[in-house]
Amino acid sequence: MKLNIEKIFKFVPYEEVEKYKNTAKKSNLALSKKEGKGNDYMGWVNLPSAITESELTDIELTVSKLAPKVEIVVTIGIGGSYLGSKAVIDALSDNFAQLKADRKNPLVLFAGQNISEDYLFELRQLLKNKEYALIVISKSGTTTEPALAFRFLKKDIEEKYGKEEAKSRIIAITDASKGALRTLATQEGYKTYVIPDDVGGRFSVLTPVGLLPIAFAGFNIRQLVAGAVNMEKETSHEVKFENNKAEMYAAARNALYNSGKQIEILVNYNPKLHFIAEWWKQLYGESEGKENKGTFPASVDFSSDLHSMGQYIQEGIRNLYETVISVEKVNNKQVIEKDADDLDGLNYLAGKRVDEVNKMAELGTQLAHIEGGVPNIKIEISEISEYTIGELLYFFEKACGISGAILDVNPFDQPGVEAYKNNMFALLGKKGYSI
Ligand code: PA5
Repeated sequence: MKLNIEKIFKFVPYEEVEKYKNTAKKSNLALSKKEGKGNDYMGWVNLPSAITESELTDIELTVSKLAPKVEIVVTIGIGGSYLGSKAVIDALSDNFAQLKADRKNPLVLFAGQNISEDYLFELRQLLKNKEYALIVISKSGTTTEPALAFRFLKKDIEEKYGKEEAKSRIIAITDASKGALRTLATQEGYKTYVIPDDVGGRFSVLTPVGLLPIAFAGFNIRQLVAGAVNMEKETSHEVKFENNKAEMYAAARNALYNSGKQIEILVNYNPKLHFIAEWWKQLYGESEGKENKGTFPASVDFSSDLHSMGQYIQEGIRNLYETVISVEKVNNKQVIEKDADDLDGLNYLAGKRVDEVNKMAELGTQLAHIEGGVPNIKIEISEISEYTIGELLYFFEKACGISGAILDVNPFDQPGVEAYKNNMFALLGKKGYSI
């Protein structure tokens, strides 16, 4: 993975980025020692290298026992208990995996990530005629959205298979001892995995929260972890600032923020990366948006959104910058052929790959947006694979920890999300809540 911040220097000179060198270095060192604001939630820092062989084997064994029996695995969870696995599975899957009958692995679907009655009804209808299993994930074990979905799906699966068989098709991932889901799992005798106390939801993709659904979808979790381990080394506090991608990205985005660029747009040119951006938005939004501070994380899918959001990015309020995830090599070759009539006028592209057109759209957009006043950070990955996605996830996590510390907030709490819950509970008449 390469990070290129040169295209911000027209707007924010390198000296402005370098100003954060000492704070970035200190914050990175503090993370490694588990010191500083939110230090009881820093377990993710050395998670990749701390994952044991037996933890990985256990996950693979669970999958190998259950996967041959099922067509669908429904993963129930929200926020950090949902977005990591969704992001990785979408990035690595065939765009049309859901429609392919020759799929070797179960289809991983999601529930409890919204409160839509239509979504729940349609999912339940679909599951009636399918062989399926459930993974229910909640660190706190008390989150309303997944708990509600699980209440329905637990009843359905028990009615379909009987209580005993249903039990063998339900896996719970939650706290080691606390919360309603732990109590329920113990009482029912489900297979369980633990979310470590010191790993918050949005940093939990490399625990069973992410790894189990990803393994069910048929992807190599060892390669994913290997990529993350490599990035753990590359972003270690021992690596000097100039070569340290996480410190550099964290410093660059703080320099941009303090120069008035308070919206960061994560850009992709490959629809497979759409949910990587959704995961990233949670990571940065929930970690930094507090105390009336923080860059607002947004995202676009190009070139699709060049035909919608492109106008604003080119000419709207100049308070934004772009961070582009650029994929060097695309595997599936599609060469444009010459057409005898050339009625569409595309013969000038004959002999080129579709990806070359995409790359020129990327370059052309970068030039236009910089010209229009939008600084550009580029994150280049060689291809989309388990290894490179593992690198990318850890890179963003490490940079987020450092960036939040530079901003001087606790990046690992989320006090603001309680406000809506309080009102919702009060409106629904839950005891002890009022508006
Ligand atoms: O990052 C976080 O902590 C949150 O987004 C949580 O992951 C989310 O609220 C779900 O919480 P839980 O896993 O406790 O159900």
